[in-house]
Amino acid sequence: MKVLVVGGGAREHALCWKLRQSPLLRDLYCAPGNPGIEALATRVPLAVEEVQRLADFAEEMKIDLTVVGPELPLSLGLADALAARGLPVFGPSRRAAEIEGSKVFAKQFMERHGIPTAPFALVHDAAEAAAVRGRFGWPVVIKADGLAAGKGVLIVNSEAEYDTAVHEMLEERRFGTAGDRLVVEAFLEGEEVSLMALCDGERVLPLATAKDYKRIGDGDTGPNTGGMGSHSPAGVLSAETAAHLFDDVLHRAVAGLAAEERRFVGVLYAGLILSPDGPRVLEFNARFGDPEAQVLLLRLEDDLLPVLAAGAAGRFDVRRLAFRKEAAACIVLASPGYPGKPVQGERIAGLDRASAVPGVEIFHAGTDRAAGDLVSAGGRVLSVCALDTDLVGALRRAYTAVAEVEWPTKVYRHDIGRRVIDQG
Ligand code: GLY
Repeated sequence: MKVLVVGGGAREHALCWKLRQSPLLRDLYCAPGNPGIEALATRVPLAVEEVQRLADFAEEMKIDLTVVGPELPLSLGLADALAARGLPVFGPSRRAAEIEGSKVFAKQFMERHGIPTAPFALVHDAAEAAAVRGRFGWPVVIKADGLAAGKGVLIVNSEAEYDTAVHEMLEERRFGTAGDRLVVEAFLEGEEVSLMALCDGERVLPLATAKDYKRIGDGDTGPNTGGMGSHSPAGVLSAETAAHLFDDVLHRAVAGLAAEERRFVGVLYAGLILSPDGPRVLEFNARFGDPEAQVLLLRLEDDLLPVLAAGAAGRFDVRRLAFRKEAAACIVLASPGYPGKPVQGERIAGLDRASAVPGVEIFHAGTDRAAGDLVSAGGRVLSVCALDTDLVGALRRAYTAVAEVEWPTKVYRHDIGRRVIDQG
């Protein structure tokens, strides 16, 4: 088969790594890819938002399956453009991807379908914002409706912070049109867990549980990022609870989307919080999590390619996916300045030694080449991942590899998995 992967981060590197292992794969392309992906796939110099040109490429090259990594091309209608040309794609249509693309739609959808979520109010203007100020206590969460490159969710602690945030979003248009409407929602305490499933429009194949760490600093401090580390299993919920949640949340969501003529083909991701009142959905995403995909794909035993191809054709032909019993962990190495303005162009070496640590795989994200050197070229730069018999071992291996990466200013968390292990 000829396969095109769309995206250029560590998630897409992990997808290429996994797809490359399939005996069914003939040619693998990745648009735009990154230097780490070069050994696995032919890079295509198209950006993820060039939807029509990506569809032209897939048509010209007679691509048998396109797998879409990030949310932006999905909400710009890449899956629709491919489907209109009769080309198979594993990724949801623009209408189905609204579950991620519009926080307002997602909250109302959850309410309609009885999916447990935090209490909320919708806000369109300053008067509505004033009317719900304080309704959910403090802190409170304010979310921009649209996609805002992972930055559109703010946690505010007081009336003054609330007024400033609302003013910046609604009046100063901090997130552009993404902030035209806001969701104001109760802040919930508890452990977070990421549940994902492959969906064929009707059926759902649960992936193993995973947990990611969104804050930049140790001890969950500092601003939110795209994710600074992950592990699988999540270690914070029993297999029984996970099975219930797959039914109550992911099955229900896929059925609800189908009933609303938004058939969902692709990866549906529920970000949950295990609050004292029970599990609640914080958000849905219409794609693999990053860095959760890296650890899930390390643990996946099945050949991914025929499963995705069957899903794209609208009918899975397996009933469940098999995962290794071992645990997987991922430590993200980021540039100084991230998640604000990352310093770029710093030389990185030592990846051969780091990759030689048993069980370790390194996936590239924001890297580039300059004068024969590998250099940093983004916020999140490398995902250093490892597999071992348990979480303690996987983390030990991953951190051993991190120490081999020669990049003096690298920023990373030193406590990925620590609380889960301590709570044992
Ligand atoms: N790691 C969170 C996300 O992919 O949205």
